[in-house]
Order: sequence, then structure tokens, then C-alpha cells
Amino acid sequence: AVVAKIAPSMLSSDFANLASEAERMLRFGADWLHMDIMVRGSPLSLLMIFGAYWFGFASYFVHQVKSLFFHTIFIVHFHRHFVPNLTIGAPVIESLRRHTKAYLDCHLMVTNPLDYVDPLAKAGASGFTFHVEVAKDYWQDLVHQVKVKGMRPGVALKPGTPVEEVYPLVEGENPVEMVLVMTVEPGFGGQKFMPETMDKVRALRKKYPSLDIEVDGGLGPSTIDVAASAGANCIVAGSSVFGSKEPANVISILRKSVQE
Ligand code: DX5
Ligand code: ZN
Repeated sequence: AVVAKIAPSMLSSDFANLASEAERMLRFGADWLHMDIMVRGSPLSLLMIFGAYWFGFASYFVHQVKSLFFHTIFIVHFHRHFVPNLTIGAPVIESLRRHTKAYLDCHLMVTNPLDYVDPLAKAGASGFTFHVEVAKDYWQDLVHQVKVKGMRPGVALKPGTPVEEVYPLVEGENPVEMVLVMTVEPGFGGQKFMPETMDKVRALRKKYPSLDIEVDGGLGPSTIDVAASAGANCIVAGSSVFGSKEPANVISILRKSVQE
């Protein structure tokens, strides 16, 4: 049977007091600390995407220059995935690690997760969850490296990504150990839970009875029952926990719902 893991999202904490915020959450009953690692796509890179598309198509259709076409499509691919926010990186994980032994559940919203394996392992990350949307071509290598470096690999999917895309990562000979189903568009805390994502949780739970299934975004006392009965057991909660006068109470409501 799966075990409930309640993971307050430190994105909603006071970053200037990260160590004491973490300590407070653990005292209130948290199992994990969820760390959102985001790299922002700049307006400049957006301009580059549009520029690259325009240039690529123009060169292909007007001058038949295929290599330019593929080169520019590569640029588009490289800049494809970003969140419009910038949060923390390995140095902050390293600082926090000096203050706590807690499981640091790192969620990487970056285009190039391979670049973060070494720095995060050295910093003391526990879980390393990357997005399937950016790692289609190299997830085998990535999962292998994450395990070699002593972290626990997980795969995340955005609300628009079909659940079938993560099946090979769960079933392979070198499988991920958790699937994170995003229940909001990644980028910010405090957004509204998307119930339509529960079909993916149900499908995963049916197929994999003992898999860790994490949900992230808009979870709190009013949405937890839907997510828990769909089969989620790892619960990320940012604003509902940090925004409450009694975070311990919220954490225990979340846990009870999963255990029922
Ligand atoms: C969103 C992050 C979440 C976020 C959740 O991109 O992945 O972890 O902090 O915050 P709440 O619980 O407020 O929706
Ligand atoms: Zn997250």
C-alpha cells in the first residue's frame, strides 16, 4: 500500500527565513519539503523563438535551405519549455541542507534537467523530478544519472500532456520512482486546482497500485478529497498551508484524506 507524503511547497514560504520556515513545517507534521526550481524564459528568448520560426520557414520555403530550417527548429525546441518565473537553484538547496535532514523533493521546471543533476546532488537534494515534455529524447540517461548520484528520480507532466507519455518511464528497466501530475499550469503558487487532471491520476493508480503519485497545484482542504480518491498519495500544498493560521491542521486534514 502507498504511504501518504505531505509536502509543503516552500515557494509559498518566506524565502528570507527559509531554514526556520522549513523547521516550522516539519514540526507541523510535513513529511517532505517541496522545492520548486524554475528558470524563467525571458522576453528576449520569446522574441528569438518568433524570429527563429520566421527565419526558418522563410529560408526553407523561399530558398530551400534545409539546414537553416532544421537549425532554427532546434533553437525553437531548445527554448520551448519555460515557466514565466524564476525561483531557486542549487545554492539555496545547499544552504537549506545545512539546516535540515528533511527529504527535499525537488521539482525542476527547466528546459535542461541534465545540467542540474550534479549541482543538485552535491547540494543535497533528495528527489529529482523532471518534466517529461523536455526529456523525451534522453530520459533513460537522465534517470540513470539521477540514481547514480543518489537521488530519487521522478517525472512530472503538465496538465496538457497525455498520461501515456510517462508509461515508458515507469515501466522501463530503469524506472522513475514517482509520477508528479501537475494540477495547475506550472509557474506560480496560488492557482486554481484543475479537476480534469484527475483522469490521469486515476489511470496511473489503476495501472500501478504501489507507485508514488504526486499532485501539485491548488491542493488544500477543499480539493484534497477529489485528488486522494483518484489515487494521489504525495500531496504538495503551498498557499493552503502557508496561508493558514493553523498549518498543522491543514497538513493533518491532507494526510487523513489520503489515508482514508
Ligand atoms: C507551481 C509549483 C507548485 C506551487 C504550488 O508551478 O510547482 O509547487 O508552489 O502552490 P499551491 O499549492 O499554492 O498551488
Ligand atoms: Zn512544484
